[in-house]
Amino acid sequence: MFRQVAEPAEADIPMSNFNQESVLSVHHWTDNLFSFTTTRDPSFRFRNGEFTMIGLKVGDKPLLRAYSVASANYEESLEFFSIKVQDGPLTSRLQHLKEGDQIIVSRKATGTLVIDNLLDGRNLYLVGTGTGLAPFLSVIKDPETYERFEKVVLLHGCRRVAELAYGEMITETLPKHDFLGDYIRNQLIYYPTVTRDPFRNRGRITDLMTSGKLFDDIGLPDLDAEKDRVMICGSPALLHDTREMLLDRGFVEGNHGEAGQFVVEKAFAER
Ligand code: A2P
Repeated sequence: MFRQVAEPAEADIPMSNFNQESVLSVHHWTDNLFSFTTTRDPSFRFRNGEFTMIGLKVGDKPLLRAYSVASANYEESLEFFSIKVQDGPLTSRLQHLKEGDQIIVSRKATGTLVIDNLLDGRNLYLVGTGTGLAPFLSVIKDPETYERFEKVVLLHGCRRVAELAYGEMITETLPKHDFLGDYIRNQLIYYPTVTRDPFRNRGRITDLMTSGKLFDDIGLPDLDAEKDRVMICGSPALLHDTREMLLDRGFVEGNHGEAGQFVVEKAFAER
């Protein structure tokens, strides 16, 4: 996942703010999407759902973008999920990463999409489109998520079926996971949906919520601000529309220092 960061600031950031990590694996989902894992400096701490600055050293300056960490905070390696923009300053280079290459990773992480920013509730809805799925991959691997909420509904909206990255990990690997398996099987509901291909679930997440089709399909009651909590990550348009829908239903937005009934974070494409 990807956010825009003010370019001039990059040159001013000292290299001592970064750890150097080695690429361990790279997976290309489509011509436009890929994931990679890296080593993790043991001193790098983050909360599940947070993002950090990562990039490459170009000359002696860092070229950086913000990426959500897609791995959980107890895992030994770091994982990132990215788009590829052919003329994007960073992703045009990152997409050629190979095992053994070096990247730089900020020593700090931050972000709004952490369950501590949510009030207690019944069910948790994770709304991600495109690479906006990334922070939720971390959140669904956190046992605390399942201690805090009864059901965790992971919604992934994409244009094309091929873009539904991580579907197999969520439906095949995680249910067999040693200590997460029970939580995943009993509490996680995965709902992928696409808008521009035939598929079992079709339509925009906002439309599926408004029409009630989502709730019929998953067998849960309609959204209720008193009981349900929502995290949103995607394009500015998705954030805008989902936020409006929730505000209309009386949901209160949370952020750092003030827990609420929903939280949002932007995912920008590199232009
Ligand atoms: P659509 O194909 O109807 O635009 P994108 O790649 O543009 O970020 O879109 C990812 C997914 O999010 C697509 O399925 C897209 O649907 C959907 N989407 C885009 N904008 C919105 C929005 N404002 N509200 C809900 N879903 C959206």
